[in-house]
Amino acid sequence: MDIFINNIISLLKDKIPLSVEEIEGLIEIPPDIKMGDYAFPCFAIAKQLRKDPKKVASELSQELVPPAQLSSLGGSDIIIRISAHGPYLNFYVSKNMLFKTVLKGIFSEGDSYGGSDLGKGKTVVIDYSSPNIAKHLAVHHLRSAVIGNAIYNLYKTLGYKCVGINHLGDWGTQFGQLIVAFKRWGSEFEIPSVEDYKKQRTAGETGLDINKLNELYVRFHKEVKSDNSLEDEARDWFRKLEKGSEEAREIWQYFKDISLEEFDRVYKRLGVKFDSYAGESFYNDMLGDTVNRIKDAGLSEISEDALIVNLDKYDMPPCILRKKDEASLYATRDICAAEYRKREYGFDKMIYVVGSEQRLHFKQFFKVLELMGYKWVDDCVHVDFGLIKFKHGKMSTREGKVILLEDLLEESCKIAKEIMEGKNPDLENKAEVANDVGIGAIIFSELSTKRVKDVLFDWDEVLNFDGETGPYVQYTHARLCSVLRKYGEKVTTDIDHDLLREDDELILVKRLEAFPLFILRAAKYYEPSILSKHLLDLCSTFNRYYQHHRILTDDAELRKARIMLVDSIRQVIKNGLSILGLKSPERM
Ligand code: ARG
Repeated sequence: MDIFINNIISLLKDKIPLSVEEIEGLIEIPPDIKMGDYAFPCFAIAKQLRKDPKKVASELSQELVPPAQLSSLGGSDIIIRISAHGPYLNFYVSKNMLFKTVLKGIFSEGDSYGGSDLGKGKTVVIDYSSPNIAKHLAVHHLRSAVIGNAIYNLYKTLGYKCVGINHLGDWGTQFGQLIVAFKRWGSEFEIPSVEDYKKQRTAGETGLDINKLNELYVRFHKEVKSDNSLEDEARDWFRKLEKGSEEAREIWQYFKDISLEEFDRVYKRLGVKFDSYAGESFYNDMLGDTVNRIKDAGLSEISEDALIVNLDKYDMPPCILRKKDEASLYATRDICAAEYRKREYGFDKMIYVVGSEQRLHFKQFFKVLELMGYKWVDDCVHVDFGLIKFKHGKMSTREGKVILLEDLLEESCKIAKEIMEGKNPDLENKAEVANDVGIGAIIFSELSTKRVKDVLFDWDEVLNFDGETGPYVQYTHARLCSVLRKYGEKVTTDIDHDLLREDDELILVKRLEAFPLFILRAAKYYEPSILSKHLLDLCSTFNRYYQHHRILTDDAELRKARIMLVDSIRQVIKNGLSILGLKSPERM
């Protein structure tokens, strides 16, 4: 696919001082078809050449010869005209060729349309969600899970081997605190003993949840205010845990099991999966070697009894490897995990989907990896994102409560169900569809704005079927399915492409053609919103087209041609939603 865009690239690439990648990133589809089928903005070249962009565009339009005019010399007839319009270079392509190649291509590729084998033989490791155990999943773990899952799917679509890792926060001094609290007040909170819990678990009836563990935390922090020694006791217990004490291990595993039960339940609802749950604890036995390598490289020093890597030279605070009580730290475990993942997966790229507030942490430990001599640190990226804020009203953070992910999903499905009742009370599998829509609304809201921006979460907007939302895209998909159902016949490719001549038909087919390009861009910038935005544009163009044109017209040939276009749009929306992690119900 992409032959049109590739043709433009090959025309341009010898004439301008930009790389193929850069050109590809700049090509646009003008909203008004009078401006050509594709446009190339000349600002970037003009800047390099220190020239006026308008002048650059006009010169290039003189210089470039459309291949159609060269066809007697063996060129193709894909691009038929090139002209300048202000600072833009506009390309006009053969409409017949455009419809033919794009629609046939989508028809034959089906669910795999949009993909490629660009990443064949390459591996991408993606670290996402990665919550801390013994605490509820909070909404920022949702953002990471949803963005990470979409990035995973994007790279997978491009043929990369992907390894999704949930780097659970299951290690650290806080588990010492929790063990102390459990031993002291566990029975007071009616938390079963390890033994009883095991029995209940085998019987499949624990009924325990993270709330209990939260209560233990709170109690510990309350008591420690008047009894300092608890802190020492907690430190001792974490030390025991690090040294492999069986009792400590058992209690810790107990906390972990309780947490994972809840996490898995939420991930399942969200449709988010991982290939590995190797969390921070997984590296415990490897930390010594990592620290030794850092020491041997002469990178570490002792400061205030702690082992650190001084990063003054790089204008960063030190990276602390070990506290004075020998306990390891978050950064130590991340350095160790990076080494391990390189050994284990030989990744070509490693992506950490973690909130912007951890920027410094990533800069620090990437620097340490660089100082250790690992060239592959250049393949590690921190894909950061902004906060989710809640508007007043239901589930507002103003109430001082932490918003729990599970409650959020529940509420969304509930509202979606009410909306479905109103819209389509006879729908057969209403509960299932409401679930797909409710969850889809939340996922899409996370993915439709640039990830570094904060998201202002507003129920009225998130579930608005006419807004820039997941339900809107899903609804458009269902509408396309309904047209196809009404048509009732098989979609066939033997259509007369010349019959598709409405402006919107042309815009639609170009958006379909550009779908693979937008997947590529979204992957390249780790920015699923590029794909969501493209789907929204596709949907709004279709809905406008649908308002003004009859698809099931009396003219049998025209009907057949339009149906093929409709089927292609349906397919592309379905493929796009699936990459973003949303379901595409056929009826809504
Ligand atoms: N557990 C951390 C948190 O909840 C996120 C971990 C992200 N991944 C990583 N490799 N550091 O803040």
